[in-house]
Amino acid sequence: MHLDALLILAIGLGLLHFGFPLAYYCYLRMLWLNKPWDVRGDSDYKPRVSIIVPTYNEAKLVRQKLDDIASQSYPEDLVEIIVVDSASTDGTAEVVKEWIADHRDVRTKLIQENVRRGKAHALNRALEATMGDVVVITDVDSAWASRDTLASALSWFSDPLVGAVTCLKIPAGRGFVGVEKGYRDLYNVVRLCESKKYSTPVFHGELAAFRRDLLVQLGGFPTDIGADDSHTATLIALKGYKAITVDNATCRELVPGKEYHVWRIRRAQHLIQHFTKAMKLLPKAPREFKPILLAETWLHLFNPWLLLVATVILLYKALTGTAIATIVLVAGIALFLFKPYRTWIVTQIYLITGTIRNLWTKEIAWKKQEKS
Ligand code: GDD
Ligand code: MN
Repeated sequence: MHLDALLILAIGLGLLHFGFPLAYYCYLRMLWLNKPWDVRGDSDYKPRVSIIVPTYNEAKLVRQKLDDIASQSYPEDLVEIIVVDSASTDGTAEVVKEWIADHRDVRTKLIQENVRRGKAHALNRALEATMGDVVVITDVDSAWASRDTLASALSWFSDPLVGAVTCLKIPAGRGFVGVEKGYRDLYNVVRLCESKKYSTPVFHGELAAFRRDLLVQLGGFPTDIGADDSHTATLIALKGYKAITVDNATCRELVPGKEYHVWRIRRAQHLIQHFTKAMKLLPKAPREFKPILLAETWLHLFNPWLLLVATVILLYKALTGTAIATIVLVAGIALFLFKPYRTWIVTQIYLITGTIRNLWTKEIAWKKQEKS
């Protein structure tokens, strides 16, 4: 009798683990994906913008990144670029200095930190030097999909309620692009729908734009956790502004050819740090944001563990001769043929591993993965 209760518990946990995200996804997709925005971008709105490019050992990619920014259609006199380098050892700063010398027409500044204390720390140094109405952060290993990406993203700030804007993401490069694409297809839809409903608590370093005065009010980016972009966006949404993924700005991000798993686990660690901190602010969330933040906190911090517990129980039951447990496990393995399921399970493994790794390292100044 006791053992049967265990089996029921395992199946119940499994159903909850898969059922909740599936219901959340279907709800968002059906109700929100095709809804019109309640905020509107005005393409004539042209705020002054400070683009911060954080660099750590990016000598190979930084020139291309700066070229990409300089080729944007946005009026040059409204743009300043601030590269902030944290003691790179591969000559990044020298490459940036050469680029600046070759592009006197582009207002660009290089800030050099003597010691590497992580991306957020560097962003805060750069923030002090910014003059724009909007501050855009962009990672070196990313590219904006078109010449108009910056203009499109900034146009949303014409609505005074919009406090932060981020892009949709497409993976690029060689290596694990297929796996990464499966993951992105799913999450782009979720982020977009959350944004139409109110705001999304997950932002992307490829293009994360913030109203400067809000950043100043917040005292800059948090340096005690890794997901500086997502956490800052969430704090802005908690203040009652909108922090949104928009559908007219897309970025490509290079996926590492090697150490893909290390990369994914570190990013999972950062998101877990972010939601652990954000969870404490849930009671203060605006009414429309609360269910989104609650759902995402559940999905990142708690839901993965249901799968682990259910699997362990099923394995135990299967090994002790319960046929139903074996059937459920075999079905669970057979489903690996189905790509979204595969993507999902792999993501759960990253989240569980990330939670465990967070016990001894926060990865604030992380190891760079080679992108090609
Ligand atoms: N100045 C400075 N100092 N820049 C840094 C440092 C640092 O200590 N560490 C990393 N960077 C720069 C990189 O050179 C790159 O331009 C950008 O920050 C992102 O670093 P990546 O190594 O490409 O990290 P990622 O793409 O895997 O990280 C993503 O997830 C993080 C959260 O997990 C990005 O979206 C980050 O923005 C995000 O914080
Ligand atoms: Mn990156």
